[in-house]
Amino acid sequence: MYRLIRPLLFRLNAERAHTWSVRAARLLQHADGSVLNALYAYQDERLEQTIWGRTWPNPVGLAAGADKNGVALRYWHGIGFGHVEVGSVSAQPCSGNTRPRAFRLPDDEALINRMGLNNDGAEAVAERLKQYTDASGTPQGIVGVNLAKTHDPSIMGAAGRADFCTSFRQLAPHATYVALNVSCPNTESGKTFESPDALDALLDDIFEVRRELALDVPVLVKLSPLLTEHVVFDSALDTLIDIAQDHGVHGYIASNTTPDRHGLQTDRDRLEAIGRGGLSGPPLHARSTQLIRYLYHTTGGGVPIIGVGGVDSAETAFAKIQAGASLVQLYTALVYHGPALIKSIKQGLVRLLDTHGFDSIQDAVGTDPALKRFA
Ligand SMILES: Cc1cc2nc3c(=O)[nH]c(=O)nc-3n(C[C@H](O)[C@H](O)[C@H](O)COP(=O)(O)O)c2cc1C
Repeated sequence: MYRLIRPLLFRLNAERAHTWSVRAARLLQHADGSVLNALYAYQDERLEQTIWGRTWPNPVGLAAGADKNGVALRYWHGIGFGHVEVGSVSAQPCSGNTRPRAFRLPDDEALINRMGLNNDGAEAVAERLKQYTDASGTPQGIVGVNLAKTHDPSIMGAAGRADFCTSFRQLAPHATYVALNVSCPNTESGKTFESPDALDALLDDIFEVRRELALDVPVLVKLSPLLTEHVVFDSALDTLIDIAQDHGVHGYIASNTTPDRHGLQTDRDRLEAIGRGGLSGPPLHARSTQLIRYLYHTTGGGVPIIGVGGVDSAETAFAKIQAGASLVQLYTALVYHGPALIKSIKQGLVRLLDTHGFDSIQDAVGTDPALKRFA
């Protein structure tokens, strides 16, 4: 069906098409659940895992940015995602960068965006997440919340950390996990929390609030991709991982989009006309997968990794799982292939488990022979 809708959506600019898609998702989530079920349901116990004390029905999740404000949670779970990451959400509402700020690269099945952290703000999103929890306050499906600093260059240093903590207080009680987006490439100041001192101070503050609220919510850090898939040693990254591990972070998300443009089929003039922004989709796959390997090796597989960047098939999802990811996410592939992709990835994963002789996803995590290159 998406094959029929896609040409119409692609006549709109990328952001408008996305806005309309999310509007449709918001409406469809109130329709009789059996319709979505009939189209998209697929469950196999080999895809299930227990992570951070919760059962994840399958490893395929919706990446941050697709539903920043958590308006269509029931729909995303209805089309078969095992988890949904809402956000990035910031303490204050934000309209983001000026438009146009999202672009399709059909020759690469990729996107470039410089949205600039547009979102409704922590208070409004927390209200929505509250509606999605059961009587005990547990989200009805698995919902992660991705937090970022309010996109305002005057909010820096301690004020930036306080901004993160405000969002954490409001949103963490309603989330299965919290991801700290320290790697957004689209802030005006270009500054992120991906430097050792900034990350150290941020994690100090976040873990302090977590203790104060007596929450056992897992805290994850979302990192930038490597600039090449050939990296086997990166001392700056090692420092960041050391800091995160010392604070006891519960996992990593690898990775965010990249400002780098190498290896694209898209014409140079078109790229120049688009300008700056984070690249996502297949061109990111190898670089984010190498980051997963790096993290898995460096942490000794001690904490779960969510792999994201160019997942568009069972094969690309499985490559990330073998590199060390327990879970994967996607966004760009949904734009190019539509919701039926999720079921086909899950079916394909079960086939790949069979082919490789694994009993479950958990058994396949970190089995990539390329991991030996780090040893
Ligand atoms: C339009 C757009 C907006 C995004 N917004 C966010 C965001 O707000 N926070 C975040 O952590 N990642 C954001 N991302 C990055 C995705 O979560 C993901 O890391 C990246 O797109 C790679 O996955 P993909 O290749 O499956 O798209 C965004 C991506 C796109 C394409």
